Parts: sequence; structure tokens; C-alpha cells
Amino acid sequence: MGSSSLPNGLLSLSLAVFLLLHLFPSGSASHNEPLISYHNGPLLTGNVSLAILWYGEFMPVEKIVVQTFIESLSMRPSKSFQADVHSWWKKVGSYLEVAEKKSPKSVVQIARQVYDESASLGYDLGSESLPALLHKATVGLANTVAVIFVSKDVKMAETCTVPCYLHGVHGKQVYIVVGNPADNCPGSCAVPFHHSRIAPLAVTLEPPSGNLGADAMVIHFASALAETVTNPFNNGFFSNKWGDQFQAATVCMGIFATGALPGTFPGNVRVDPFTGGAFNAHGLGPSFFLLPALWDPKTDDCWTVKLKETAHVALLFQPHVVVTMDSNLLELSLSLPNKMSSLLAVEVSTYNVLKGGRSFSYQGEVSRQNLET
Ligand SMILES: *[C@@H]1O[C@H](CO)[C@@H](O)[C@H](O)[C@H]1NC(C)=O
Repeated sequence: MGSSSLPNGLLSLSLAVFLLLHLFPSGSASHNEPLISYHNGPLLTGNVSLAILWYGEFMPVEKIVVQTFIESLSMRPSKSFQADVHSWWKKVGSYLEVAEKKSPKSVVQIARQVYDESASLGYDLGSESLPALLHKATVGLANTVAVIFVSKDVKMAETCTVPCYLHGVHGKQVYIVVGNPADNCPGSCAVPFHHSRIAPLAVTLEPPSGNLGADAMVIHFASALAETVTNPFNNGFFSNKWGDQFQAATVCMGIFATGALPGTFPGNVRVDPFTGGAFNAHGLGPSFFLLPALWDPKTDDCWTVKLKETAHVALLFQPHVVVTMDSNLLELSLSLPNKMSSLLAVEVSTYNVLKGGRSFSYQGEVSRQNLET
């Protein structure tokens, strides 16, 4: 039974819902000067060679997900999907155009991977460990970006403090450090796949690979990579207003799709109907990734990868949904798994979502709704 308008009163739904939600088409405030501006220093142009150190013990899936993301950065643009990992990488490249640097088609390559499974520098790392880590990653290799992935059984405070990664330069060596937050700090650094420590009502999503730590590492590595290319020596692109902690990715933190309310709602991402995993970009394989928003230096606004086709989501769920309809105010009372609740959409301009007895409301406009019983 299809229904294009909801009856008044209570309606219990236990159905397949195909819907589309447009929340807050992100209106850009007008700025007199761009939020992120160029400070005339060198950027990383040309191919980016990564010298990777996996410090501590990683599960195969963790390494495969991260490696697939890296390989997907340089994949051939596909005709069928606009929202591929490559289009995200092209947005990073657009900074070079804005800075009027030559931007030949650059690719990201893995120059070498080394493994320190026994965590030879110990399980409690501080910033004083950095030179030794960089040395392990890069010894004998020139012109690389050192990338240190720290496993979940190793503590490193810097990778558990927002933005959950480090990037910078030590001597002449450009580096990135990313931790696996699964055990140490999921409430800070595995969001939106884990309940947020500071915003308990924030919507959570299922990780696209099924492994929370791996997908969190992808978000932080992607953010760090974008900021490494656009601000490798701390005199590239960053905020005039708020200083160098606000760069290409940090200034858009918490945004993954249109309609995002940073810290509370990650945006209208796609969900794989089979796994429940949330994603916004396709990679090689097929693989699916949830990639962070980037500041778009041309439009002066946050940008996310977008699917070409209308992003309606096929969602099958069983739980009870109680809908109260009153003119164009609709209340949904739902006991959905958390990952599903962001996907509900209704043809109204205001609605409240009641979850666990508490209510939070969104305003937005929905262009399509299709309910089947
Ligand atoms: C970048 O890498 C590609 C693919 O490996 C290669 O064809 C190209 O020559 C490289 N460019 C530079 C400047 O090294």
C-alpha cells in the first residue's frame, strides 16, 4: 500500500521506507574575507609518497580499509558515481589552484610500509617518541610524508585529543600521526560511529567497513592528509580568524553530508541497506567510506562529496514508529537502532524526534517520501 499523505492521528509503521531528507541546506554566511586563507608558504605539489609505519598490532581489516582508501584516492573517476574518493582528493587539489601553484594531476602513492608489531618504543607514547617513530617510517627514503598509525592498544594522548590526529613538520620531515581510538577514546575520536562523550544525544552511524576503529582512522587520516597538502609547514592555508588550528578539515569537523549539525547530526549520508554502514563515497572494490567535509576555498564554505543520483535511502526496519500528524507538524516517536534514526524523513517543515523519551527537533524540507506497508 503506497501512501503519499499521512492520515491524521496515530499511524504505526512497520515498513520499508524510502526517503530523502534535506536539512538545513548549509547556508553560507557572507564573509568579508575567506574563513580559510592562504599565507603564501609552500604547499605539497605533485605526487605524494607515503612512508607508513604501523606501530603496534593491527587487525588485517584495519590495514586493508586504510590501504584501500589510499589506493582509492587515485582511482579513475567513475562514470556511474560522482561521489567517489577521487573527487574528494580533487577538492584537496583545488587549493593548489587557488594558491596559483601548478597542479599536475597528483597521485598518492605508498612508498613503503613498515611494521612494529611489538611496539618497540612501548605502549605509552608521548610527543618525545615522534623522532624515533619518524625515523622508523622513513629511514632510507627521501621526499616522503611519514604516516604513523598507532594501534588501539597503544596510548598516545595527542591522538585522543580533538582533532584526533597530528600533522606537521619535524626538521624537514613532514608527518601525520593517527591513532585507532576504538579502545582509548571512542567517545571523542570514533564519533560519529560511537556515542559522543560531549553530546550524548548526537546521532551515531554504523561504520561503513563494519570496523569502528578502521573507519575512524580513515576520517582522521583523510583530514590530516588534506591539511598536510594544503598546510604542510604551517604557513599555507589556515584561518586568519581563529588561527592555525583551523585548517581545511578542522574548520568543517563533524560534517559528512548536507544537512549536518556539527557534533549532533552528521548529515544525510547514504546507508548501505545490507550492512547498515553509513557512507558518502565509493572507493575501489567496491568499498565505501565516510569522508570528512573539506573547506572549499573557491566557494568559501564546507564541501562534502555528493552522490550524483538523488540520495534516497532504502531502509528496511522493523521497530515501531509512531507518527502523530498535525497539519505540517509531525512527531515521530521511535525506538530504532541509533544508526537508523538519522534516516527518517517526512514531508513536513518541522518535526521532532523523540528518542529515549527525549526530544530534539530538526527543521528542514523533504522532497520525497514513499511509504510502503
Ligand atoms: C606521479 O605518479 C604517476 C603515476 O605513478 C606518474 O605517472 C607520474 O610521472 C608521477 N609524477 C611525478 C611528477 O613524479
